[in-house]
Amino acid sequence: MRAPLVAVAYQSGFGHTATLADSVVAGAVSAGATVTPVVVTDMTDADWHTLDTADAIVFGSATYMGNVSSGFQAFAEKTGRRCITGAWRDKVGAGFTNSGAKSGDKMHTLISLAVFAAQHHMHWVNLGLGPGWNSSAGSEHDANRLGFWLGAGAATDVDADAGAVHPADVATCRHLGARVAEVTAQLIAGRAVTTAA
Ligand SMILES: Cc1cc2nc3c(=O)[nH]c(=O)nc-3n(C[C@H](O)[C@H](O)[C@H](O)COP(=O)(O)O)c2cc1C
Repeated sequence: MRAPLVAVAYQSGFGHTATLADSVVAGAVSAGATVTPVVVTDMTDADWHTLDTADAIVFGSATYMGNVSSGFQAFAEKTGRRCITGAWRDKVGAGFTNSGAKSGDKMHTLISLAVFAAQHHMHWVNLGLGPGWNSSAGSEHDANRLGFWLGAGAATDVDADAGAVHPADVATCRHLGARVAEVTAQLIAGRAVTTAA
């Protein structure tokens, strides 16, 4: 069976979300996917081709003003024609975000990413981890330490370097990348069976 083609399409103003994107990429590669990162604020024709031909797109945006950034939304609006024609129909989708505050209203960002994928008729893959750091036995070092289900949510001090993203958040995004690659591989295999039948 061919390797799933996964794109990681993200915006990052100060590098924190970019660090998470790197981890999503690493996770998907570890699960056997061929992965291409795409910076959505600097789209080239080759980048559009990458997204158009991917089996799965993992969307990432920094949380700005309790939502996806204007840079990500500008990218989203450029996909309007693809939305109408169904160009991304039945691709796999997933999402991740980073904010300064531990909550930071970033659930709203994940919802925006999921709605964006739904408008493209994509199949949303959730995080697939139980909540971490939610009992006396838990700690900030738990995977999914901030307790999201819809996607991966990270928090990085606003004055931290890009490399100072919390290791638990990095691991959580790595998990998301691997999960997307695995689900996409299952979908490709299933389609091959149903097409042959
Ligand atoms: C314009 C702007 C709006 C922001 N809004 C929020 C917010 O709503 N909630 C929050 O927790 N952090 C907010 N932040 C902080 C960023 O989410 C935080 O610095 C994040 O790490 C940036 O990610 P990036 O390095 O990928 O751009 C905001 C930052 C900026 C510049």
